[in-house]
Amino acid sequence: MTALQKLYEGKAKILYATADPTVLLACYKDDATAFNAQKRGTIAGKGRINCTMAAHLFRKLEAAGVPTHFVNCPGPDEMLVRALTIVPLEVIVRNIAAGSLCKQTGLALGTELNPPLVEFCYKNDDFGDPLVTEGRIYAMKLATPEQVREIETLTRRINDLLREFFQQCGITLVDFKIEFGIDAGGRIVLGDEISPDTCRLWDAQESDPVARVLDKDRFRQDLGNVEGAYQRVLDKVLAN
Ligand code: TMP
Ligand code: ASP
Repeated sequence: MTALQKLYEGKAKILYATADPTVLLACYKDDATAFNAQKRGTIAGKGRINCTMAAHLFRKLEAAGVPTHFVNCPGPDEMLVRALTIVPLEVIVRNIAAGSLCKQTGLALGTELNPPLVEFCYKNDDFGDPLVTEGRIYAMKLATPEQVREIETLTRRINDLLREFFQQCGITLVDFKIEFGIDAGGRIVLGDEISPDTCRLWDAQESDPVARVLDKDRFRQDLGNVEGAYQRVLDKVLAN
């Protein structure tokens, strides 16, 4: 399916219309940003790696009964996806304390979170994607109570499936961010991507706090060998 006009360019992907109005083409970019795009760079091969990894994980989740927007990949950094009305929430799951949770609460890095935390942020760069309460979600009409319940149920199921899958790969799924949309039938569907850009992934065999990091924290914190870590995650994922 050939790309028609460009619909939207985000920080990590460009979305194009296709001849089928129900299907869009997502082109994954090598561009990397952090801290609401205050830090910018390029991670060579990231578009191909994230697209290939997300496709592999979407297929696994679909096979386990989770509805996703994935259709297929016409190229290594290109993904055809079903058009969705995006729910403007970033849904964050935390199995282990890291990142902004540690900064905002004083919880020590590495603290196990049982049950895992499911948190909602308002997806809007102008406000810096702030954490929102359920009350604010309803006041802002970002989603209905039924949609929030459905999103949380799906999110916990996705976490169970991904945690087990990454464990088989020798990787600890520390935390991740996912997004949902609504399809033409009103069904809540997993959208966006799942990749080292959107997950914290630690090498399960490695105790060194820098060497174990296999995700975008290597870029955020200038830890070096970003490309090598992304490729290692992809190799492990494709082997499982
Ligand atoms: P945080 O600890 O910075 O809040 O990040 C939690 C998780 O969400 C982590 O896996 C990285 C991911 N994330 C995104 O995918 N996009 C973002 O804009 C941010 C801030 C985090
Ligand atoms: N993706 C976000 C940004 O570009 C933040 C992050 O991943 O750290 O600003």
